[in-house]
Amino acid sequence: MSSSRSSGYQTGFGNEFASEALPGALPEGRNSPQRAAYGLYAEQISGTAFTAPRHANRRSWLYRIRPASMHRPFEALAHPRFHNRFDEAPATPNQLRWDPLPLPTAPTDFVDGLVTVAGNGGAASQTGIGIYLYAANRPMQGRYFYSADGELLIVPERGRLRIATELGVVEVEPQQIAVIPRGIRFRVDLPDGEARGYVAENFGAALRLPDLGPIGSNGLANPRDFETPHAAYEDVEGDFELIAKFQGNLWRAAIGHSPLDVVAWHGNHAPYRYDLRRFNTIGSISYDHPDPSIFTVLTSPSDTAGTANLDFVIFPPRWLCAEDTFRPPWFHRNVASEFMGLVHGAYDAKAGGFVPGGSSLHNCMSGHGPDATSFEKASAADTSRPDHIVDTMAFMFETRAVIHPTRQALESPQLQRDYYACWQGLAKHFDPSRR
Ligand SMILES: [Fe+2]
Repeated sequence: MSSSRSSGYQTGFGNEFASEALPGALPEGRNSPQRAAYGLYAEQISGTAFTAPRHANRRSWLYRIRPASMHRPFEALAHPRFHNRFDEAPATPNQLRWDPLPLPTAPTDFVDGLVTVAGNGGAASQTGIGIYLYAANRPMQGRYFYSADGELLIVPERGRLRIATELGVVEVEPQQIAVIPRGIRFRVDLPDGEARGYVAENFGAALRLPDLGPIGSNGLANPRDFETPHAAYEDVEGDFELIAKFQGNLWRAAIGHSPLDVVAWHGNHAPYRYDLRRFNTIGSISYDHPDPSIFTVLTSPSDTAGTANLDFVIFPPRWLCAEDTFRPPWFHRNVASEFMGLVHGAYDAKAGGFVPGGSSLHNCMSGHGPDATSFEKASAADTSRPDHIVDTMAFMFETRAVIHPTRQALESPQLQRDYYACWQGLAKHFDPSRR
């Protein structure tokens, strides 16, 4: 075996990146020369239609030891907990909340450890998202994975991930995210021995930075803080397994070499990472709340302007200084549906019950908001002084379509069957004689 490991990342969002692990491996002036350098094969991977508008077009050219076509036939692979059957149980208007997924006791790698919580749409319609949790305690050994169904937005909550992809190595820790584009093959190693977190699989248009409108040319997630790896290849042969997610099902094929054998590449269909602590949070400096869309990190637009297939939104540390304002996220109902997770600390709208690794789901028009304790505290707060919210990092996967929890999520022992009770203690304050 020989391998190359480059350090550092290329910065920017959706750029035409270029990287070579051997000097001169990238051809100059053409994408597919008659003979590529070092005896490499040239191969294009397209993440959008060939004819997608230039600003939305995603494709990369790979220069690799063997082409991606080289593997034995796929056969079905059973994985009872990781699937896209979002119609198993009626979607419920109830507010739902779960405790964290327990860490496994048996040897479990990243793919073994995926569990489908909920989702909507599917790969066939190229709309919607799958929502998964993972809990793993061993690296993927001799196994490689890709999803033909969607890009994977990975949100670690516990333990680092070292994600070796065809285009290079992405290392992430909690409070960072990784995005693996549709079709890109990868293997996950666990530098800390165990790991847990959340995944959104985006069946729709690739995630991009939101437009900023009147905010201007800076703010929220800045393009320069997105990091794409340099080329790093493995030249290794053996009895390996390539696992594909295809139309909601898993398939496995024997492969005689590491598919992470790309020596050089250029293009913009590429994995990236982002540190959520770099987010430039913008909010009210007078009164009232902007809508939580002000916290959007990445968005997958739908065919309806301004209506996202997926918004990835965070609630990071920030100052609250709006005067005469109920400062925590207020009571609301939403045409969109909201799945939340917590990767660090505590969330300011809940006094308890929503812990790191936990999840909640508030579907279309289901009322939700602060619990009784948080309401009373915020109603009595002195808003002539700013509050500094620290030690927190919550996030939301928000989608235009209702999120259907899976049967295993509804039957899970982690489901908090008394979640509704957090609002039952809200006192009646109404008094028509006292304005
Ligand atoms: Fe909400």
